[in-house]
Amino acid sequence: MTNRTAVISGASSGIGAATARQLAEAGYRVVLTARRRDRIDALAEELTGAGHEAVAAPLDVTDRAAVDAFAAGLDRCDVLINNAGGALGTDPVATADPADWRTMYEVNVLGVLHLTQALLPALTGSPSGDGTVVVVSSTAGHATYEGGGGYVAAKHGAHVLAETLRLELCGKPVRVIEIAPGMVKTDEFALTRFRGDAERAAKVYEGVAEPLTAEDVADTIAWTVTRPPHVNVDLLVVRPRAQASNSKVHRER
Ligand SMILES: NC(=O)c1ccc[n+]([C@@H]2O[C@H](COP(=O)([O-])OP(=O)(O)OC[C@H]3O[C@@H](n4cnc5c(N)ncnc54)[C@H](OP(=O)(O)O)[C@@H]3O)[C@@H](O)[C@H]2O)c1
Repeated sequence: MTNRTAVISGASSGIGAATARQLAEAGYRVVLTARRRDRIDALAEELTGAGHEAVAAPLDVTDRAAVDAFAAGLDRCDVLINNAGGALGTDPVATADPADWRTMYEVNVLGVLHLTQALLPALTGSPSGDGTVVVVSSTAGHATYEGGGGYVAAKHGAHVLAETLRLELCGKPVRVIEIAPGMVKTDEFALTRFRGDAERAAKVYEGVAEPLTAEDVADTIAWTVTRPPHVNVDLLVVRPRAQASNSKVHRER
């Protein structure tokens, strides 16, 4: 595995940070990207301190020129984890702010497009002969819910990107894997969605016995990535037991 390189976007928190830890543990050199340099620097330090290979590279995935410069500076990429993303608000279609929809499209769809396009030459030419692109979409990429419009539309876009790319790369030594998590209790996802309102964010998980954790999702990502190269897990939907659909959640109280 030495020098096999995994690039992880959104590695400064939640699912991305947990995935970086698990892929480092699996023997990958991990390249940590996100906008918050202090967070990824600290994680790189933690991982190198534990004997792993890790480097931090601050990056805004919506900035195409920055993404291209980042890709040009990489000597190798075997695995790309497109994880950076998120939701803004729960406004109905009738009154939602188009600026929020644009922001969600930029990070959840164009961010994936930018990084994937920039790293595809490295992935198809990877010395291991086993390139892997992971798109962390969501169950919101497969069904809608009231108040979810902008996020659901964006994650459907991420889903379509993954499906289309898999068709287009068929015959090349690159797998395209989509991971679609349901409810995951991470520190920041709901907080970002509700613009820092901790009370509203906490309500998302209220009474749910065991929402998924970032580690649960990272575990599914690491499992798909570490299957033999000819095994392509096209789509993995993972939810907590208490959630049967985007709108059917069992709450204890
Ligand atoms: N939590 C859930 O319930 C859930 C469910 C299904 C799918 N997901 C998806 O899983 C992924 C990770 O979510 P999470 O729960 O771990 O949330 P999170 O902790 O809020 O993580 C989001 C990550 O994306 C990064 N990011 C946001 N905008 C970025 C940009 N423009 N450029 C680069 N990085 C950017 C953030 O880092 P910086 O702010 O440092 O840039 C952060 O590391 C997201 O795509 C989310 O949509 C989450």
